[in-house]
Amino acid sequence: MATTKATPSGKTFKPPIRPAEAGYGSTGESDALRLLKADHDEVATMFEEYEESDDDGEKQEMAQTICAALTVHAEIEEEIFYPAAREVLEAQELELVNEADVEHAAVKELVSQIEASDPTDDHFDATIKVLKEYVKHHVREEESELFPRLEARELDREAVGNALAARKAELLLA
Ligand SMILES: [Fe+2]
Ligand SMILES: [Fe+2]
Repeated sequence: MATTKATPSGKTFKPPIRPAEAGYGSTGESDALRLLKADHDEVATMFEEYEESDDDGEKQEMAQTICAALTVHAEIEEEIFYPAAREVLEAQELELVNEADVEHAAVKELVSQIEASDPTDDHFDATIKVLKEYVKHHVREEESELFPRLEARELDREAVGNALAARKAELLLA
Protein backbone atom coordinates (compact mmCIF):
# COMPACT_ATOMS: atom_id res chain seq x y z
CA MET A 1 0.00 0.00 0.00
CA ALA A 2 1.45 3.34 -1.08
CA THR A 3 1.63 5.91 1.68
CA THR A 4 3.03 8.68 -0.51
CA LYS A 5 2.36 9.78 -4.04
CA ALA A 6 3.86 12.32 -6.38
CA THR A 7 1.91 15.52 -6.96
CA PRO A 8 1.86 17.10 -10.43
CA SER A 9 4.44 19.60 -9.19
CA GLY A 10 6.79 16.73 -8.48
CA LYS A 11 6.68 17.23 -4.72
CA THR A 12 5.91 14.29 -2.51
CA PHE A 13 2.47 14.35 -0.97
CA LYS A 14 2.14 12.81 2.46
CA PRO A 15 -1.42 12.15 3.54
CA PRO A 16 -2.27 13.17 7.11
CA ILE A 17 -2.23 10.33 9.61
CA ARG A 18 -5.97 10.77 9.99
CA PRO A 19 -7.50 11.75 6.65
CA ALA A 20 -9.78 14.76 7.19
CA GLU A 21 -12.65 13.28 5.18
CA ALA A 22 -12.68 10.19 7.37
CA GLY A 23 -12.78 12.16 10.64
CA TYR A 24 -11.11 10.56 13.60
CA GLY A 25 -13.07 7.40 13.42
CA SER A 26 -13.14 4.52 11.06
CA THR A 27 -15.85 2.71 9.21
CA GLY A 28 -13.75 -0.32 8.37
CA GLU A 29 -13.61 -3.85 9.73
CA SER A 30 -11.28 -2.88 12.55
CA ASP A 31 -13.45 -0.07 13.87
CA ALA A 32 -13.49 -0.39 17.67
CA LEU A 33 -17.16 0.53 18.07
CA ARG A 34 -18.28 -1.87 15.35
CA LEU A 35 -16.21 -4.68 16.81
CA LEU A 36 -17.72 -4.20 20.27
CA LYS A 37 -21.22 -3.91 18.85
CA ALA A 38 -20.72 -7.18 16.97
CA ASP A 39 -19.78 -8.82 20.29
CA HIS A 40 -22.94 -7.38 21.89
CA ASP A 41 -25.13 -8.73 19.08
CA GLU A 42 -23.47 -12.12 19.23
CA VAL A 43 -24.06 -12.53 22.95
CA ALA A 44 -27.69 -11.35 22.62
CA THR A 45 -28.23 -14.17 20.09
CA MET A 46 -26.61 -16.66 22.48
CA PHE A 47 -29.06 -15.68 25.24
CA GLU A 48 -31.99 -16.18 22.85
CA GLU A 49 -30.68 -19.61 21.86
CA TYR A 50 -30.30 -20.54 25.52
CA GLU A 51 -33.92 -19.64 26.18
CA GLU A 52 -35.08 -21.85 23.32
CA SER A 53 -33.31 -24.92 24.66
CA ASP A 54 -34.81 -27.38 27.12
CA ASP A 55 -31.93 -29.85 27.16
CA ASP A 56 -29.73 -29.62 30.28
CA GLY A 57 -26.55 -30.68 28.51
CA GLU A 58 -27.08 -28.14 25.77
CA LYS A 59 -27.98 -25.43 28.29
CA GLN A 60 -24.83 -26.14 30.27
CA GLU A 61 -22.72 -25.80 27.14
CA MET A 62 -24.48 -22.60 26.04
CA ALA A 63 -24.19 -21.07 29.48
CA GLN A 64 -20.43 -21.73 29.47
CA THR A 65 -20.14 -20.19 26.00
CA ILE A 66 -22.06 -17.09 27.14
CA CYS A 67 -19.87 -16.76 30.24
CA ALA A 68 -16.65 -17.17 28.22
CA ALA A 69 -17.78 -14.59 25.63
CA LEU A 70 -18.75 -12.07 28.33
CA THR A 71 -15.49 -12.60 30.21
CA VAL A 72 -13.38 -11.95 27.09
CA HIS A 73 -15.51 -8.95 26.11
CA ALA A 74 -15.30 -7.39 29.57
CA GLU A 75 -11.56 -7.99 29.66
CA ILE A 76 -10.79 -6.28 26.34
CA GLU A 77 -13.02 -3.35 27.25
CA GLU A 78 -11.39 -2.91 30.65
CA GLU A 79 -7.84 -3.38 29.38
CA ILE A 80 -8.05 -1.40 26.16
CA PHE A 81 -11.35 0.29 25.37
CA TYR A 82 -12.27 2.03 28.61
CA PRO A 83 -8.75 3.45 29.17
CA ALA A 84 -8.75 4.75 25.56
CA ALA A 85 -12.21 6.24 26.13
CA ARG A 86 -11.07 7.91 29.36
CA GLU A 87 -8.28 9.64 27.47
CA VAL A 88 -10.61 11.39 25.03
CA LEU A 89 -13.77 12.00 27.08
CA GLU A 90 -14.49 15.24 28.89
CA ALA A 91 -14.11 15.14 32.69
CA GLN A 92 -17.89 15.21 33.27
CA GLU A 93 -18.35 12.24 30.93
CA LEU A 94 -16.00 9.93 32.85
CA GLU A 95 -18.85 8.95 35.15
CA LEU A 96 -20.19 6.90 32.23
CA VAL A 97 -17.05 4.77 32.28
CA ASN A 98 -17.15 4.53 36.06
CA GLU A 99 -20.70 3.20 35.81
CA ALA A 100 -19.59 0.74 33.15
CA ASP A 101 -16.86 -0.54 35.51
CA VAL A 102 -19.44 -1.11 38.26
CA GLU A 103 -21.80 -2.86 35.84
CA HIS A 104 -18.98 -5.13 34.69
CA ALA A 105 -18.34 -6.11 38.31
CA ALA A 106 -22.03 -7.08 38.69
CA VAL A 107 -21.95 -9.08 35.45
CA LYS A 108 -18.76 -10.89 36.54
CA GLU A 109 -20.34 -11.83 39.85
CA LEU A 110 -23.25 -13.50 38.03
CA VAL A 111 -20.87 -15.16 35.56
CA SER A 112 -18.94 -16.75 38.42
CA GLN A 113 -22.17 -17.97 40.04
CA ILE A 114 -23.17 -19.61 36.75
CA GLU A 115 -19.73 -21.11 36.20
CA ALA A 116 -19.91 -22.69 39.66
CA SER A 117 -23.37 -24.10 39.01
CA ASP A 118 -25.24 -26.27 36.47
CA PRO A 119 -28.76 -26.62 35.01
CA THR A 120 -29.85 -29.04 37.74
CA ASP A 121 -29.71 -26.09 40.14
CA ASP A 122 -33.23 -24.67 40.35
CA HIS A 123 -31.82 -21.12 40.19
CA PHE A 124 -29.72 -21.71 37.08
CA ASP A 125 -32.25 -20.40 34.52
CA ALA A 126 -33.12 -17.47 36.78
CA THR A 127 -29.46 -16.50 37.11
CA ILE A 128 -29.01 -16.62 33.33
CA LYS A 129 -32.12 -14.50 32.92
CA VAL A 130 -30.89 -11.87 35.37
CA LEU A 131 -27.49 -11.91 33.65
CA LYS A 132 -29.23 -11.34 30.32
CA GLU A 133 -31.11 -8.33 31.75
CA TYR A 134 -27.96 -6.83 33.28
CA VAL A 135 -26.05 -7.27 30.03
CA LYS A 136 -28.92 -5.78 28.03
CA HIS A 137 -28.98 -2.72 30.27
CA HIS A 138 -25.20 -2.31 30.14
CA VAL A 139 -25.06 -2.73 26.35
CA ARG A 140 -27.83 -0.16 25.92
CA GLU A 141 -25.82 2.36 27.95
CA GLU A 142 -22.64 1.68 26.00
CA GLU A 143 -24.31 1.87 22.61
CA SER A 144 -26.62 4.81 23.29
CA GLU A 145 -24.50 6.95 25.61
CA LEU A 146 -20.82 6.05 25.49
CA PHE A 147 -20.34 5.17 21.80
CA PRO A 148 -22.07 8.31 20.42
CA ARG A 149 -19.88 10.52 22.62
CA LEU A 150 -16.77 8.72 21.39
CA GLU A 151 -17.86 9.18 17.79
CA ALA A 152 -17.54 12.91 18.39
CA ARG A 153 -14.09 12.66 19.99
CA GLU A 154 -10.56 12.14 18.75
CA LEU A 155 -10.58 8.43 19.39
CA ASP A 156 -8.47 6.50 16.91
CA ARG A 157 -11.15 3.87 16.42
CA GLU A 158 -9.11 1.82 14.00
CA ALA A 159 -6.00 1.59 16.22
CA VAL A 160 -8.16 0.78 19.25
CA GLY A 161 -10.12 -1.72 17.17
CA ASN A 162 -6.95 -3.48 16.06
CA ALA A 163 -5.73 -3.68 19.66
CA LEU A 164 -9.12 -5.05 20.80
CA ALA A 165 -9.15 -7.68 18.04
CA ALA A 166 -5.58 -8.79 18.79
CA ARG A 167 -6.21 -9.09 22.52
CA LYS A 168 -9.50 -10.90 21.94
CA ALA A 169 -7.76 -13.46 19.71
CA GLU A 170 -5.08 -13.94 22.38
CA LEU A 171 -7.66 -14.46 25.16
CA LEU A 172 -9.70 -16.89 23.06
CA LEU A 173 -6.60 -19.05 22.61
CA ALA A 174 -5.72 -18.94 26.31
FE1 LIG B 1 -18.96 -3.16 28.80
FE1 LIG C 1 -19.52 -3.88 25.68
